[in-house]
Amino acid sequence: MSGHVHTQTLAHQPRINVVWRPQAGPQKALVDCPFREVFFGGARGGGKTDGVLGKWALKAQRYGDKFNAVMFRRTTVSSEDAIERSRQIYRPLGAEFNGTKNVWRMPGGGRVTFAYLDKVTDADEYQGRNVTDAWVEEAGQFPMPDPILRLFGVLRSAQGVPTQLIVTANPGGAGQHWMRDRYELHPFPRKPKVLRREVGDGLIHDVAVIPSRITDNKILLDNDPSYVTNLHMVGSKELVRAWLDGDWSAVEGAFFDGWAEKRHVVQPFSVPKHWMRFRSVDWGFARPSSIGWWAIASDDHALGDGRVLPRGAMIRYRELYTATKPDVGMRLDVEQLGALIKSKEQPGEDIAYTVGDPAMAAENGGPSMTMRLAKVGISCRPADNTRVGKNGAMGGWDQLRSRLRGEDDARPMLVVFATCKDFIRTLPVLQHDPDRPEDLDTKAEDHIADETRYACMSRPWIKKENIVPMKPKDGYKKVGAADQQSWRV
Ligand SMILES: Nc1ncnc2c1ncn2[C@@H]1O[C@H](COP(=O)(O)OP(=O)(O)OP(=O)(O)O)[C@@H](O)[C@H]1O
Ligand SMILES: [Mg+2]
Repeated sequence: MSGHVHTQTLAHQPRINVVWRPQAGPQKALVDCPFREVFFGGARGGGKTDGVLGKWALKAQRYGDKFNAVMFRRTTVSSEDAIERSRQIYRPLGAEFNGTKNVWRMPGGGRVTFAYLDKVTDADEYQGRNVTDAWVEEAGQFPMPDPILRLFGVLRSAQGVPTQLIVTANPGGAGQHWMRDRYELHPFPRKPKVLRREVGDGLIHDVAVIPSRITDNKILLDNDPSYVTNLHMVGSKELVRAWLDGDWSAVEGAFFDGWAEKRHVVQPFSVPKHWMRFRSVDWGFARPSSIGWWAIASDDHALGDGRVLPRGAMIRYRELYTATKPDVGMRLDVEQLGALIKSKEQPGEDIAYTVGDPAMAAENGGPSMTMRLAKVGISCRPADNTRVGKNGAMGGWDQLRSRLRGEDDARPMLVVFATCKDFIRTLPVLQHDPDRPEDLDTKAEDHIADETRYACMSRPWIKKENIVPMKPKDGYKKVGAADQQSWRV
């Protein structure tokens, strides 16, 4: 690609009116990047929006009416930004915007559409439309990558346009854990790199990762020297560091900000027989069911590693999470689940009580789930389902948080065995609901948090006076290195 976008009418004239050109560095690397999946960005103001819009203007120039691009976003704000900027870049080229359909008709006949993506089914709507290029803006707002990855089922070019999916994001959103893992952003790379992966049947999928930082955007820094100062004013210290340095390990926005693996994860030990034990249950069918087995320390208890569990601390010593993959349930009926719960327990294990999702007690024409569980020997009482406290009373999330905080740094009131992998995978990365910050963003995998909340509410506790790697969920294996010959950066 020539790397400059010219106004069509003037392109052959000696004095060319350049509408847009990529800045040296990451933006240039993006424009030249030939790979099928591209991650671009990772820090604020690095030139992401301009970079993709500009790259698309160039592709539109090159491929004419075969070019058919769609920008996807989860919130309106991110697209307003891009639409606004696209007017400045595309209009002088002679492109025409249809504001009702949010589509640009580019001078050569190509199209750029702005669309909405939240669920997998939103992506499916674009099947069969010969979409050549997709861009997911603010991809960090997607708690799970599924809708984004589904776009690979949409990309298709019958006519020689190389298809590409571009993902742009800043750190700090609900999806930062999967993005960090998929694009290997921790530590945040200095230079562009290509991740080569085998995706099944020996097929190779190359993913380009192009880090960009505010320091790469000289135009912005020249035009608006106060930009960085402004960032400092709108974010916490950690978030600003994440925005500026692209530090994807910061869990800014984490709902359980008191979580720390070194405080809350303990090596399994044999739970003294006289400690009280109970279960907590969150029922799911299409979604996973989550069962926690808890014990209460009846006295201060020294752990082998020098730590002490305070008297009254809750210990999650076993869990059952019926997932076939993250957030997808095993579709067990209540009796099957009951049998599975029983099968995990030791003979003679004395369980004092079980608390469960109050919805399990509902009778919809037949016996409730609670009744059916009772038949297989698990008598479950409805948990206090208060999520957020009112009028000074503590809600379930407060209880969970204050137990994590504990009596002091060395004395957490809730710990989990290192074997409780799904707890350790899901709970630390849960985020605030953007519209209701006092509650959890329930779009994420929150079943274990719910079940733990039920457990905490059954043992109210009042004080007397970092990211865990997630297993990549999207089925790839890393293999060798890609051929970067065609892509000089
Ligand atoms: N190649 C370019 N030509 C002209 N201006 C540019 C170019 N690249 C970036 N800019 C300027 O820098 C500003 C910020 O860049 P851009 O919006 O692309 O950054 P961003 O990474 O998308 O930021 P954010 O993280 O806030 O979404 C743009 O509004 C534009 O004014
Ligand atoms: Mg942007």
